[in-house]
Amino acid sequence: MEPLAEQLVLDSRTRLLVLTGAGVSAESGVPTFRGMNGLWENHPVEAVASPEGFQADPALVWRFYSQRRAGAADVKPNPGHDALVRWEAHLGDRFLLTTQNVDGLHARAGSQRVVDMHGNLFRTKCADCQREPFADTSVHPSGTVPKCDSCGGRLRPDIVWFGEMLAPSDLERIGEFISRKDGTRLVFLAAGTSGAVWPAAGIVDEVRAVRGETWLVNYESAANTERFHHFVQGLSGQVLPTLAKLA
Ligand code: APR
Repeated sequence: MEPLAEQLVLDSRTRLLVLTGAGVSAESGVPTFRGMNGLWENHPVEAVASPEGFQADPALVWRFYSQRRAGAADVKPNPGHDALVRWEAHLGDRFLLTTQNVDGLHARAGSQRVVDMHGNLFRTKCADCQREPFADTSVHPSGTVPKCDSCGGRLRPDIVWFGEMLAPSDLERIGEFISRKDGTRLVFLAAGTSGAVWPAAGIVDEVRAVRGETWLVNYESAANTERFHHFVQGLSGQVLPTLAKLA
């Protein structure tokens, strides 16, 4: 483990890609996935976060996401989110944040260059037609399934579920940032993620393939810790605010 005194230098020659996971929202009071032991009200998380689960019991899925919508609306960004906003203000277009979190806390904190790689809790789309996803804060806790105005089909949260593909445009945006050739040095920092879910868990290797420097900030060791050059063990809300030296 690296001593906490070690600093991530963000100077005019650095471009920084950040990946965040559920751990970054944990100090705001949003439960992590693995922290629930993979269970929600005794249902495996896959039963409420997969196309098969939605097919089997869409009302249960809406109850789960309604609870998460209500919970996320009640919480606030924490000092870890705020640190990333400061880094972006310093780096501008040499900064990109890709998040697995669907709670919208990065945008609420003020981050602008954000890729919501697993979707957004406050957006809804139709499971049956191609209408554009739309902003939606409504909750359906009582066993109901909202219907699509356009086709009468079933609406679903605009979330990338287990077994689903990420949006190609999101993957392209991340890939272009990694392979950008503008003379800057690529640094990748992952925070609050178990390194167990792909393709997010493989970004560290894409960065290493172009000789980027890699950092992990996590409370516990992640599934891919050994792939990182630096591992700072701790809470992101405590580590991130003091980790970087803005030069
Ligand atoms: N600071 C830093 N790390 C933390 C903190 C904290 N305050 N609290 C928890 N962690 C760490 C845990 O040790 C764990 O390794 O964050 C990690 C959270 O892991 P997961 O719950 O697996 O979350 P994540 O990696 O974001 O999950 C990835 O899996 O369920 C799917 O699509 C869902 O986006 C999610 C994806």
